[in-house]
Amino acid sequence: MYVCLCNAISDKVIRSAIHQHQPQSMQQLRKLVPIGTDCGKCIRQTRVIFEEEQAKI
Ligand code: FES
Repeated sequence: MYVCLCNAISDKVIRSAIHQHQPQSMQQLRKLVPIGTDCGKCIRQTRVIFEEEQAKI
């Protein structure tokens, strides 16, 4: 499922970046995947995914 339509980024891409690089903040995650660089509508959902994956690590 696409989370970021502007940059065509799926939840799978976000989850795998979190597992591979283990960013400690949304800021660090956004350096790995270009989330929210255009309209910004994807940031809220990305935060939910980030928190879900953090809970699993
Ligand atoms: Fe991600 Fe627009 S949906 S920047």
